[in-house]
Amino acid sequence: MSDIKLLPINQRDHSEDALDLAQRAADYVILEVGHAPNAAFIDDFFEAVPPDLNKSDLMNFGVMQQTAMTGIVCIAKGYELPTDWWIGLLLLDPAYRGSGIGHNVVQLIKTRARKAGMTMLKLAVLESNPRALHFWAREGFVPHRYAPATPDSDGHNRWVLKHQI
Ligand SMILES: CC(C)(COP(=O)(O)OP(=O)(O)OC[C@H]1O[C@@H](n2cnc3c(N)ncnc32)[C@H](O)[C@@H]1OP(=O)(O)O)[C@@H](O)C(=O)NCCC(=O)NCCS
Repeated sequence: MSDIKLLPINQRDHSEDALDLAQRAADYVILEVGHAPNAAFIDDFFEAVPPDLNKSDLMNFGVMQQTAMTGIVCIAKGYELPTDWWIGLLLLDPAYRGSGIGHNVVQLIKTRARKAGMTMLKLAVLESNPRALHFWAREGFVPHRYAPATPDSDGHNRWVLKHQI
């Protein structure tokens, strides 16, 4: 699937496309936030910044197969360490899952990260999402730490995974 490209997208011009994608991929959104995707979910996709970072540290992409948006990706530069890229979300349309696009996206992210001088990719996976845990393990990600739900959190236990690049 070498025709997959990461297209930089932004909140002003692409919120509608990103919402359309999230609605197609509502299975995952419901698992994570407990309701169907809405404008607030998309605002978070474009704006939610990890601790100590700024909005300018975020990169958002559409996963494009020719002109079709098959997924969306969010990456935070420099979280948790200056040489880390944190994948905040990788979400594919169910119609395009299981055919290697996810693998291709990880390769494209790795290439960009290496060019930017990064040494590590990290992300958090919901413990209640075993298929994603399987996917990331297959892509070479290993456990970094366990992040159990806390009284103030969204109720999800998570595995933080890392992958040296
Ligand atoms: C997880 C995800 C990004 C993987 O992308 P993908 O293109 O489906 O993955 P690939 O085709 O490259 O690889 C398929 C592998 O991923 C696994 N997989 C994980 N979730 C899957 C899904 N919902 N549908 C199909 N395969 C899935 C399969 O088990 C398969 O592994 P196998 O070949 O060893 O059996 C994608 O399925 C997705 O967007 N899922 C919903 C959102 C999600 O869970 N995102 C990750 C949040 S941390």
